[in-house]
Order: sequence, then C-alpha cells, then structure tokens
Amino acid sequence: MMDLVHSHYARFGVLTQRLLAALSDAGLTSSALRGGDLAALDQFHVGGRRASEDLAHLLSPRAGTKILDLGSGIGGSARLLAEEYACEVVGLDLTEVYCQTARALGTETGLQWSLHFLCGNALSLPFADNSFDAVWSQDVAVNVADKNALYREIVRVLKPGGKLAINDIVASGSGALQFPLPWAPEPRWNHLLDADALRHCILDRGLQQVAWQDKTQEAKIWDTASRRQALPTSEQTGRVPPPMGAQQTFGPDFKLMTDNLLQALEDGVIEVVQAVFRKP
Ligand SMILES: C[S@@+](CC[C@H](N)C(=O)[O-])C[C@H]1O[C@@H](n2cnc3c(N)ncnc32)[C@H](O)[C@@H]1O
Repeated sequence: MMDLVHSHYARFGVLTQRLLAALSDAGLTSSALRGGDLAALDQFHVGGRRASEDLAHLLSPRAGTKILDLGSGIGGSARLLAEEYACEVVGLDLTEVYCQTARALGTETGLQWSLHFLCGNALSLPFADNSFDAVWSQDVAVNVADKNALYREIVRVLKPGGKLAINDIVASGSGALQFPLPWAPEPRWNHLLDADALRHCILDRGLQQVAWQDKTQEAKIWDTASRRQALPTSEQTGRVPPPMGAQQTFGPDFKLMTDNLLQALEDGVIEVVQAVFRKP
C-alpha cells in the first residue's frame, strides 16, 4: 500500500526545477521570497493556505515550539509555522521528491535553519518517545488504512501535554465518491472514516479533545475560488501569479481530481474537519 501511495504522489516526477521555473515566470525571485508567495502551489490539502492559517490559529504554538509535520508534502505548512510562529519544524513524508522540493523551497525562502525534512513512513516514525511539542497533519490520514497504528505512533512521539492538530477530509452520507480524487486515483487507495469514527479512533489512543470544527463550508468556498483561479496576490510583486498550482505537481488530470472533489463536497459525500487534541 505504501508503494501505491508513493507512486501516486511521485507520478509527475521531479518537481523542484518546475516549481522554481513557475515562480520565476510569476516574477518571484528567491532573494525576497516569502511563504505566502508560494500559497498557490504548496498547500496540498482542501482549503489551501487559509486552512493552514486557521489550523495554526487553533493550535497557536509559541515561538520555539518543536512541531512534527506528518505527511509534510512540499512543506507549505512547515514554512508557515516557521515563518509566522517561529516554530522549529520537522517534516516527514513518504514521497522523496516532495522532501527534496520542501528542502529547496526552505532554502529559497531563507527558512532552512528552522526546518528539517526527511523521508519516512508515519506508521514507523524514526523518533524517540516524547520528542515533539506538537504533531501537525493535513490530509494524510486519507491515505492510511491502519489509523490505529498512525495515532499510536503520533501519541508515542508527542511529549506529555503535547498537541495533535489535524485538518482532514471525512466521509459523510451515503453517496458514492467518483475517482480519481487528489489523494486516491482509485477506491483501493482511499481510506476515509466518518467524523465520529475518526474522533473515536484518536480518543481511543488516549488523547483528549481540545477543539473540533466543521470546515466544510470554508472548503466549498475555497474550492470555488480556486477554480476561478482567484489565487492570492503575491506578497512580493503585488501581482496575481499565473495559474501555477497543484497541476504542476499532479499533472494534467488534476482538474478531473478537483472536479470530483468539489462534487463530493457539494453532494455531501465528504466533509472537512479541523481539530486539536492533547496528550495528558
Ligand atoms: C494530500 S498530501 C498532503 C501534503 C501536506 N500535508 C499538505 O497539506 O500540503 C498527502 C501527503 O501524505 C503523504 N503520505 C501519505 N501516506 C504517508 C505515510 N504513511 N507516511 C508519510 N507520509 C505519507 C504523501 O506522500 C503526501 O505528501
């Protein structure tokens, strides 16, 4: 199953040069690049950078907080947490090309001293018990069949008093999903639980709920806006960047994936939640 997940995300090949070229075409030079300039291309989850900002607000980490970003993609949220909250972030992801790109973009944004990216499996974390003040994860559980093992590992590496912050898609209603979806080209790659099952899976590992929010409406608004390519204005140039985005990562069938995602949101087949839990 891990090979399936890796082959899905790595299918469009080496990313770094392609993304740096897209940034350059958008008039964004590395010398003054800020995290927000990358928002159109570095947030591989429903809700985009706005969702990351909301989740960061929900977690509200103090400066110096040591955070594990589990399934960190190309590091968009890790950079947000380092830049806006002065956190030290370790990103771990199964997909090696994403880790390489995350390192390169960390350097481009001058945040490399606060960031460390490594390739690994969330089900077998290469960290000692009680290593992190917080674990952060966005749209990764959708790919993990063994949720008990996932949250057991998260609890193990969290310090007592440490927090888990999640942004996740959950199943809802009885309608059928259409594939491909951004996280799953076929049904066998898809591992959605409904909201109650996800919450209980986490609580059953011994974490306590601090916050739980339904973000489905925000996700619908974001999805509609991203279709109209209402991309954020660059902090550096004041211009709207050209339509660079996840299509540069996922390839030409990204539009079909997002069409299916939007339809599932509209049909009430999926919902989006953000939550924070605490290890006693
Ligand atoms: C939808 S992307 C989200 C990436 C990132 N969290 C973000 O929001 O930009 C899912 C990510 O989870 C990673 N992933 C899936 N299963 C994983 C596992 N078992 N261990 C580590 N990473 C995993 C994938 O490689 C991919 O980068």
